[in-house]
Amino acid sequence: MKKLIFALVLAAGLAFAQTDVTVTHMTGNRADDVDFLRTVADEYMANNPHTIGGEEYNVTIEILAGPESATDRFGLYLQFFQTQSDEVDVFDIDVIWPGDLSEHLVDLNQFPELAELSEQHFAAIVENNTVNGALVGMPYFTDAGLLYYRQDLLDKYGFDGPPTTWSELESMAQTIQDGERAAGNPDFWGFTWQGNAYEGLTCDALEWVNSSNGGQIIEPDGTITINNENAINALETAASWVGTISPPGITGFQEEDARNMWQAGNAAFMRNWPYAYSLGQADDSDIAGLFDVTTLPAADAAGAAPAATLGGWQLAVSKYATNTEVSADWVRYMTTYDMQLRTALERSLLPTVEAVYEAPELLASNVAWFNNLLPVFQNAVARPSTVTAPDYNETSRLFYTAVHSVLTGESDAETAMALLELDLQELHPELPTGNP
Ligand code: GLC
Repeated sequence: MKKLIFALVLAAGLAFAQTDVTVTHMTGNRADDVDFLRTVADEYMANNPHTIGGEEYNVTIEILAGPESATDRFGLYLQFFQTQSDEVDVFDIDVIWPGDLSEHLVDLNQFPELAELSEQHFAAIVENNTVNGALVGMPYFTDAGLLYYRQDLLDKYGFDGPPTTWSELESMAQTIQDGERAAGNPDFWGFTWQGNAYEGLTCDALEWVNSSNGGQIIEPDGTITINNENAINALETAASWVGTISPPGITGFQEEDARNMWQAGNAAFMRNWPYAYSLGQADDSDIAGLFDVTTLPAADAAGAAPAATLGGWQLAVSKYATNTEVSADWVRYMTTYDMQLRTALERSLLPTVEAVYEAPELLASNVAWFNNLLPVFQNAVARPSTVTAPDYNETSRLFYTAVHSVLTGESDAETAMALLELDLQELHPELPTGNP
């Protein structure tokens, strides 16, 4: 009898045995990223054990903060991948990286829950994450460049609304800057944006160029078009902002530098991504309730239309992960309708699940503007990552380095774009040059 009971207890123990698995997820280093993910990870762990693929797991999620800049993050990820390291299982990957990184990432279509869930997400983003038939990332949030403006200052200086052309932005920025400085704020600037030599500058510069009839660096058909007059003029215009309506140090600014200046109340206009909205409206912000967002301006030329660079992040599972199935379950948890509604409401991150835009909670919230700007997000201009994969990162490096040399005055735009064209041809000998 004792033996029988012992055997039963043993069998039961085996049946309910849980495997311990730790999933390490690397994200960015902004506090709002890391803190949010740690909160969600705690919730996921409170639901242990998880039944995944018919087995019981006791999962620990560890959130690691990666470098702030997308460019630095890409470099670090490559180091993990090149050594086939299992130190990080789940990576946040930028919308431009699926093609460059696909060889190191698991095909998430093999997990039926994820294949099914991906159907709720924007088809264009799912397609962007699909490389040779493999779904290498689940969309986490999308992104698009926006113009932030101080409504109180527009009112104070008698402007009817935000600028729609770059020249309007320049003159409004100058007027407000002069006025605010005369009123005793020597730290005030007209316009803050991202001018450091990194991926963020590729995004800003693509907006200047594309909104000036200057194309999109390399067109979707593969034609290298950046060496054109409209692009050159757009870059000269941006260079003229440095030290006039934007601080000289803007050539070292990333997103957070721009946001810090803006949120301290020291800028009239800011180019940034939607994440800056929630932080700007938070209780500890000096400008809560004083600003709004809209589309970026366009050039004052026939046919010129505003452009927002398409950004966004996906969650990907490394091929070298300790347990890809459990990692994929964490990715599933992070990319549901509910989670996207929550990241929209709490962090003003743009959903990739289309239905979230219609959610009553969203429509009643302070990010109801997501809906008005939906056409902007859907028509956002893509960087040439698909057509240049697996060398997008190098392509972008050539572009932002050339643009940076124009912003710092090291080179004029005409020379810089002529040299850039040669460098791009050398990197992509198969691609033709031409006009946008
Ligand atoms: C944002 C965008 C991303 C872009 C990066 C540049 O994070 O979502 O796509 O590459 O900014 O700094």
